[in-house]
Amino acid sequence: MGAYQIIGGRPLEGAVQIHGAKNSVLPILAATLVCGGQYTINNCPEISDVDTALDILRRLGCKVQRSSSQIRVDTVAAEYREIPEELMRKMRAAILFLGALLARFGEARVSAPGGCALGERPIDLHVLGLRLMGAECEYDGETLRCAGKNLHGCTVALPFPSVGATENLILAALACEGEVTLCNAAKEPEIGDLIGFLRACGARIEGTGSSVLHISGKAALHGTDYTVMPDRMEAATYLAAAAATRGRLVLQSAEPAHLQAVLSVLERGGCEIAQRPGEIIVRCDRLQAVSPIVTAPYDGFPTDAQAPLMAAMATAEGVSIFEETVFSDRLRHVPALRAMGANILATGRHAVVTGVKRLNGATVEATDLRGGAAMVIAALSAEGESLVTKTEHMERGYTSFVQTLRSCGAQIARQ
Ligand code: UD1
Repeated sequence: MGAYQIIGGRPLEGAVQIHGAKNSVLPILAATLVCGGQYTINNCPEISDVDTALDILRRLGCKVQRSSSQIRVDTVAAEYREIPEELMRKMRAAILFLGALLARFGEARVSAPGGCALGERPIDLHVLGLRLMGAECEYDGETLRCAGKNLHGCTVALPFPSVGATENLILAALACEGEVTLCNAAKEPEIGDLIGFLRACGARIEGTGSSVLHISGKAALHGTDYTVMPDRMEAATYLAAAAATRGRLVLQSAEPAHLQAVLSVLERGGCEIAQRPGEIIVRCDRLQAVSPIVTAPYDGFPTDAQAPLMAAMATAEGVSIFEETVFSDRLRHVPALRAMGANILATGRHAVVTGVKRLNGATVEATDLRGGAAMVIAALSAEGESLVTKTEHMERGYTSFVQTLRSCGAQIARQ
């Protein structure tokens, strides 16, 4: 079990290079399976979730080569196999191989995916769409078996714009005879990136950025080169860290257009923000509470930025109210922030954060990827020494987290 030792109280200052988006590269790697071909994916983050996706591809008989941020995948020789449970359990995005396997082989057998514990994470919406395409799906609560060699076009209206269900259904739709119309699809930029990749492979998909997608099945697909978009959640984390430590950071290779909801909260809180294409500069001398902060599907305030922003608001002047509407149990970081001296009352999906002058160092355990990042941010702003344990959560989603923070003046070391 890894740990970060942090001595807080120093403003973060410097430049941070934003890497490729975790939530884009994972569906894109799954998508390489749909059509046997050679793919070169650039700007891949060096995180353990990508290692897991590559392990799954290898397990399915694909050739994989990696040199820093570039990944080459050859999926020509892929064979149908079950994905072992221990790989499925490592990350939630493993479920995306369901749509890809079904599209390529007409069958898929996967166990329930793992990933961050954020409350209930069912896969009913994935199954609903696959059934409408003609797949036979059986789920016993542990293993999902899907079969469908002759999938057909249909209209799927999602009751909720699930990111994973939208991605899985796009992948399965590629094998359908006719057109699939996906209504109330998720509009997250990572969906647009997946569609951009698939179009580069020859897919015919209309409606990028809107909630209605039209996917024409059976287009002739081929391998391609593609560059993954910047990670807006990595950027949001460093923005929150700058605000929490009253620092000044320049985020390079970031995409400000994807971060408007987060930037607006920080600006309302008193941060100075300058945005140019590919760059965001944040400077924070004083932080005021912003309320309410309500998470929502894109282009609302992202649920993945909720915990990092809460760590910043823990020392803002005034009271912030957070409402988490996307996941049922995504306030698990609150007890750790309280152990560091934060004044937070949490009930159900709401947290009332009354800013305190200073947090204090403490030993806390990371609960999940973004919750763990929030604890690191809180520790960076706190007086004294903290130990954040279970850092394997953070390694799942942040490239060179410790080195980057150190380069901006943080006193943080891996233990
Ligand atoms: C993705 C992101 C995650 C982000 C989330 C919401 C990846 C790898 N992960 O997760 O970082 O926090 O989007 O932006 O891209 N739901 C159902 N039934 C389903 C599917 C989902 O009820 O079949 C519910 C979930 O329980 C949750 C909500 O929908 O409450 C959102 O889930 P979803 O959008 O599917 O998130 P993920 O794709 O798991």
